Amino acid sequence: MGQTQPGKKLLVIDDEPSTLKMLRRLLGVYGYSVLTAGSGEEGLEVFRNERPPLIITDIRMPGMDGIEVLRHLREISPEVEMIVITGHGDMELAVRSLRNSASDFINKPIRREALEIALQRAEEKIELKRKIRDHAQELEYRVEKATADLSHQCRRLEVLLKIGKQAGEIPTYGKMSEFLQEKIESTTGLKCPRIMVLNSIGDGLIGGHSNSRQPKVSALVAEMIKGLRGGRQLLTSQELEKIQLPVEAADQKSVVMLPIDTEEGDTVGAALVLASGERQEEDLKFAGLLLSLVAGALRRAVVQEEEISNLRQIVEKEKFGNMIGRHEKMRRIFNLISNVAASDATVLVLGESGTGKELAARRVHELSSRSTGPFIVLDCAAYPQTLLEGEMFGHEKGAFTGAVHARKGLFELAQGGTLFLDEAGDIPLPSQVKLLRALQFKEFHRLGSETVTRVDVRVIAATARDLRQEIERGTFREDLYYRLHVIPIIMPPLRERLSDLPLLVSHFLERLSGGSTKKKIHRDAMQVLFNHNWPGNIRELENAIEHAFILCGTDGIKAADLPAYLHEYRKSSRSASDGLEHVERSHVIKVLQECRGNKIMAARRLKISRSTLYRKLGQFDIQ
Ligand SMILES: Nc1ncnc2c1ncn2[C@@H]1O[C@H](COP(=O)(O)OP(=O)(O)OP(=O)(O)O)[C@@H](O)[C@H]1O
Ligand SMILES: [Mg+2]
Repeated sequence: MGQTQPGKKLLVIDDEPSTLKMLRRLLGVYGYSVLTAGSGEEGLEVFRNERPPLIITDIRMPGMDGIEVLRHLREISPEVEMIVITGHGDMELAVRSLRNSASDFINKPIRREALEIALQRAEEKIELKRKIRDHAQELEYRVEKATADLSHQCRRLEVLLKIGKQAGEIPTYGKMSEFLQEKIESTTGLKCPRIMVLNSIGDGLIGGHSNSRQPKVSALVAEMIKGLRGGRQLLTSQELEKIQLPVEAADQKSVVMLPIDTEEGDTVGAALVLASGERQEEDLKFAGLLLSLVAGALRRAVVQEEEISNLRQIVEKEKFGNMIGRHEKMRRIFNLISNVAASDATVLVLGESGTGKELAARRVHELSSRSTGPFIVLDCAAYPQTLLEGEMFGHEKGAFTGAVHARKGLFELAQGGTLFLDEAGDIPLPSQVKLLRALQFKEFHRLGSETVTRVDVRVIAATARDLRQEIERGTFREDLYYRLHVIPIIMPPLRERLSDLPLLVSHFLERLSGGSTKKKIHRDAMQVLFNHNWPGNIRELENAIEHAFILCGTDGIKAADLPAYLHEYRKSSRSASDGLEHVERSHVIKVLQECRGNKIMAARRLKISRSTLYRKLGQFDIQ
């Protein structure tokens, strides 16, 4: 009985003291700690108190017999192993006891071998039951854990599905990436400082994340993202620096680029996450899952974003900084400005008053490499000669009466930037010489100074005067003219680009309305504007609109709100200079407006062919 652990409890129930004594001794030798009871009732009592796993009971006893004991014991404990002792040849009782869940029986007189075998079997069964119990517990534990994991996964899956659904409903790309950043951070322990998405060609990033001034960086990041090929990557600090990602030095050790892959395995972009913390592996996986779930929606948003940006570019062609214009003449000017801005050449802006000469000069400056430097305006018509030279070149203390302090001129103040000489045609002849020198050598003397001052300034001049005529008259130096005339920009008068009127009016109304709803302009008012010939050009238009804006009601600008002179002007100008052509032009515009721009219908109404209508539109500059 080697397997028996010493001290293991065993209860023997028998009414014969001699049998009890014999078994106690024998079982003690086997290492059991033997409990005894002289009757069935006592046996049950002992069992309740001591809970031995194994019981040997006699079957024939006065009072409660062995079969009864078995039944009671089984009720108390389904686990307990029971061996019954039957009289020799008491086969029927033995069978009954087995039916009452005894595990074995031995005959009287008890033989050692029979007892040992019975004990061994019982022990094996106890051991087996214990193993089954342990196994069941283990299984139960595993099932519990698996259930918990499953419900955790289910919850996460629910979260994912919800996020996927929400993402599909987000209209813009920008909102989508904000949404993703927020979801990654709230559902995992990861920080997500940036979502980077490839453009549809895959050669750069899209939207606010690709800094358009840094296309190289954008292309570098695009290469890195495509290189992920489904796997994530921990970024080195050199890589971070190279691609200028917005991560604080403290976080640099744990920046991971997580790909955003579609189901088909295409990489749409990547999320930058800071992976620190304990569950990072699981978190990264979850974030990856989340990203792949929204990849399709993100790609759709990218395509939409690109379409919108293309449309915006088309619309913005009408806008060139602060300059508005769609007319061919303006387009040419915008192109010219873009081209000359890059060089440092002197520019001469010509054009009638109010055509936007100063605006054009500012645009050249804005687009040039000097844009961070100053843009200084000198109104040359505003000063007599000495004062003008003082303004331009500055003066030393005592250079003239009243020069109490030394003062820098505008040339010096414009250092590193642009000096705009407005009304340059009005510069007096003696000052023209000094200006020419300054332009040629980029140096000059302050008034009253012997020392030469050198400057790095780009000069843009403007005038409404006809400089060639001034040269003939002897009021403008030819050499200065050629010096300034390196690149001329000739601003067209408004009457030559009347098709831009609605655009300009809309622009001014928008500016005047501030943030509130834009006031509209009625057709009759527009007609008055079209009929005018705008000698004061855009400034005049701006003033007229401002006037009407103040006077008009909430339902917009009507003809009566416009300055009175515009109505009168029309009458006089129509009869005199413009004559028949003007009347024809107005009529064509009116019919076109009535036909809502439908040219076929308008031609039919005007009783002319479509090609004649097109010719007239060109002739009258109607677009
Ligand atoms: N293309 C344009 N789009 C929008 N506004 C314009 C445009 N051109 C001129 N303006 C506006 O018209 C006004 C006159 O422009 P600007 O002062 O540039 O003209 P200018 O030719 O310099 O006039 P002047 O000869 O009288 O000095 C400004 O308020 C300017 O903002
Ligand atoms: Mg001006």
